[in-house]
Amino acid sequence: MQIHFSIKLLVSFLLLFISPLFLSFSTAANRPQDLLRSSCAQARYPALCFQTLSNQVSPTAKPLELAQAAVKASFARTLTLSVYLKNTLKSQLTVGSKGNNRKRVALSDCVAQISDSVLELNRTLNELRKLQMGTFEWQMSNAQTWASTAITNGNACINGLNRSDAEEKMKVEVKRRVTEVSMFTSNALYFIIRLGDSRNPKPHSNSNN
Ligand SMILES: *[C@@H]1O[C@H](CO)[C@@H](O)[C@H](O)[C@H]1NC(C)=O
Ligand SMILES: *[C@@H]1O[C@H](CO)[C@@H](O)[C@H](O)[C@H]1NC(C)=O
Repeated sequence: MQIHFSIKLLVSFLLLFISPLFLSFSTAANRPQDLLRSSCAQARYPALCFQTLSNQVSPTAKPLELAQAAVKASFARTLTLSVYLKNTLKSQLTVGSKGNNRKRVALSDCVAQISDSVLELNRTLNELRKLQMGTFEWQMSNAQTWASTAITNGNACINGLNRSDAEEKMKVEVKRRVTEVSMFTSNALYFIIRLGDSRNPKPHSNSNN
């Protein structure tokens, strides 16, 4: 554990040290898109990150723009998921008899959990739109907490479905959609943490070019 942690720390340190050098070579040689690719490289789901953000931001986007775009994408998907879940629950209410009530509990829990995620991610996005110098750390900590809660809600929904004896086909489909949306939210959380770190004082570099 201790050794593993130290190695991770060492690698992070080396990456931190090397990456500015690496970037100044690669941007000269390669397409500007590679800059966005490198911003996504450390995200939980790099390919999804690049695919999501390449339509939303310029390759030279700053940490704030990246975080806003990533949260926006996660919020939009969560909102769509929330509507889908409400409609699925409604259709189960129409089809099912009273005897099936127990089978709907997990799904109605998911509706509540994902509706909460919509609120959490909207709060996150609103927070990122009104960041201020004096309260930056506090606001970033809020944003991080709310985005994490959205991920936790998704996990709770999947856990509930795993334990329930609801219709298998519905469970599989809902779990697939919740998992997919959580991938967007995990990437968003990564950019929130990255934005928080970006305000740490760094030495000013005039040596490039
Ligand atoms: C998100 O927040 C904004 C600003 O508070 C609000 O106007 C909007 O209705 C909210 N959207 C949802 C889906 O909650
Ligand atoms: C739910 O069950 C699936 C298998 O059906 C499993 O892969 C997954 O890890 C479980 N999820 C949780 C959160 O327990």
